[in-house]
Amino acid sequence: MMSYAVTGSSRGIGALAADPSNTVFALVRSKSSAQKLQDFVAGHAHKNVHILEADNDNIASIKTAAKEVAKITGGTLDVLIANGALMHHERNGLMLDEFPDENVLDDDMLTFYKTNVLGTIHLINAFLPLLRAGTTKKCIIIGSALGSHKFARRSEVLQYSGYSMSKAALNIAAARYASKYKGEGLIFLTITPGLVKTLQGTPEEVEKFFSSEEARIRERYPAFEGAITVEQSVRDQLALISRITVDRSGDFVNRDGTNVEG
Ligand SMILES: NC(=O)c1ccc[n+]([C@@H]2O[C@H](COP(=O)([O-])OP(=O)(O)OC[C@H]3O[C@@H](n4cnc5c(N)ncnc54)[C@H](OP(=O)(O)O)[C@@H]3O)[C@@H](O)[C@H]2O)c1
Repeated sequence: MMSYAVTGSSRGIGALAADPSNTVFALVRSKSSAQKLQDFVAGHAHKNVHILEADNDNIASIKTAAKEVAKITGGTLDVLIANGALMHHERNGLMLDEFPDENVLDDDMLTFYKTNVLGTIHLINAFLPLLRAGTTKKCIIIGSALGSHKFARRSEVLQYSGYSMSKAALNIAAARYASKYKGEGLIFLTITPGLVKTLQGTPEEVEKFFSSEEARIRERYPAFEGAITVEQSVRDQLALISRITVDRSGDFVNRDGTNVEG
């Protein structure tokens, strides 16, 4: 029996919940705005999903969620998946020297840092005692190729400044936790999920967005696999999570387990 806690779960934890021997803690910012998840859980045969609230921007909510998980599991957790992240932002298209003024630049960068970096660190700190008491001891951070130095140099992507840098910072955070806790058998791993079709919108809007992204990436990476479905990405990530061993702790990997930075 495995227990998983996953942040940013409002739009899906189906693959984990499908195994009745799993206990899944679906962490969402707000239960009331996660209606799709609530409907899924209400209609799910296994009754193995608990919906809890945890917002990266609210430390108290994270600590409360950790306490609630501990109450149900008896103080342990096998796998924490830090998936929730701020991605979409009105000024995502701007490079660092293109902001309307310095204050807007400061505000935007700090917002990404606070939610994605500090929020994830608070999450990990709150759940560390549970992971240390567990048997599997895996902490997975969902990263991004945009947080890769190599990808930044090769792709020359200029958008997503705050998002990219927040994801890059998380790679270092994972390496630091790995350094401290490797001896105890804890695994910290940052995984890039691929370019995944999670965008909300009409099928035409989604298709248009992903085909232009694919074309842009293929100019630099001709072998780029293209945008993939949520199911494919989740299947590969879960397979990797189940086979990963402590010697890889601190690594920043693609969802097939290869190192992103080469
Ligand atoms: N899709 C891709 O191509 C791609 C590529 C590389 C990396 N990623 C990473 O994959 C992960 C999932 O992204 P996605 O594509 O599935 O996008 P998504 O559907 O927009 O999911 C993002 C999730 O993060 C949650 N979130 C936002 N702000 C949060 C906060 N302050 N505290 C806690 N949760 C928060 C959102 O919650 P609400 O539902 O409440 O808004 C949402 O559930 C993210 O870490 C993202 O950076 C995605």
